[in-house]
Amino acid sequence: MPSQSFFKMNDGFEIPAVGLGTWKSEPGEVTYQAVLDSLELGYRHIDTARAYGNEEDVGRAVRDSNVNREDIFVTTKLRYQDEGFESAIEACNKSLKRLDIGYINLYLIHWPLKDKRVDAWKALEVLKEEGKCRSIGVSNFTIEHLEELKESCNIIPAINQVELHPYHFQQELLTYCNSENILLEAYSPLAHGKKLEEPRLVKIANQLNVTPAQILIRWAIQHGMIPLPKSINKGRIGENFDVFSFDIPSSVMSELDSLDEAYITCWNPSNPPPYAPT
Ligand SMILES: NC(=O)c1ccc[n+]([C@@H]2O[C@H](COP(=O)([O-])OP(=O)(O)OC[C@H]3O[C@@H](n4cnc5c(N)ncnc54)[C@H](OP(=O)(O)O)[C@@H]3O)[C@@H](O)[C@H]2O)c1
Repeated sequence: MPSQSFFKMNDGFEIPAVGLGTWKSEPGEVTYQAVLDSLELGYRHIDTARAYGNEEDVGRAVRDSNVNREDIFVTTKLRYQDEGFESAIEACNKSLKRLDIGYINLYLIHWPLKDKRVDAWKALEVLKEEGKCRSIGVSNFTIEHLEELKESCNIIPAINQVELHPYHFQQELLTYCNSENILLEAYSPLAHGKKLEEPRLVKIANQLNVTPAQILIRWAIQHGMIPLPKSINKGRIGENFDVFSFDIPSSVMSELDSLDEAYITCWNPSNPPPYAPT
């Protein structure tokens, strides 16, 4: 089993450096098996959300695995429809029931919904206080959204989960989050699978004798970010976790950084779509 590293969050809790993504991982046996496989292969971090419709399957796999609950880090998210104070409290209780794993390691506001996000954050502060969620954070927040929370709330988010890969390297956000002691989670770290055959990336992977996916995942870790690659294929789940036995040299890191072309595979929170994301 490859060894793995951890990052320390601003509230003192540790978070495993790589997590299994589960967006578009079909609810039912597919998600259940992917999570079981990942835990067998050494993952200790699973990322789900109310909006993915698979919290029950993630929880069942966590309970059925041979790994202690205390050694597994589970994230879920408050969907935009439930933002607001009372509704966020209620939504968290429902997620806890669906997961059925005692507590949530990390609860995130999934999307910075205007007029609702600050009240939702105040609810997350209460949920943390009550121990229902050990850590709390946000997702798809820009610097402006984070500044707003800083002015109106008591707790600084431990995590901001956003789209991050060399083709969308949000350096300004990374610098800001480093200065505020907020860790960045890299969602769609494989650019949703759309850049894995890009020639410059393939060339670097061949040079280092690893796969393009492993380069993208390792790149995120070496920038101090937590990548969340999604796969439902046991071979690829293993490949994506086998990233702790090599280093990308700094000159190659710079080469990867320079691939940035603001290539967004999901949504742009600075210019939100008329619909909110699922
Ligand atoms: N907070 C948010 O708003 C938000 C938004 C997007 C994503 N996320 C989180 O981030 C996670 C990852 O993002 P993502 O699902 O968008 O995309 P991703 O992890 O960048 O890419 C997933 C795609 O790549 C394929 N793949 C995985 N490993 C591979 C490998 N080694 N070689 C070739 N293909 C591979 C997967 O197919 P197979 O499954 O068939 O292997 C899938 O089609 C999500 O699952 C979710 O947990 C959060």
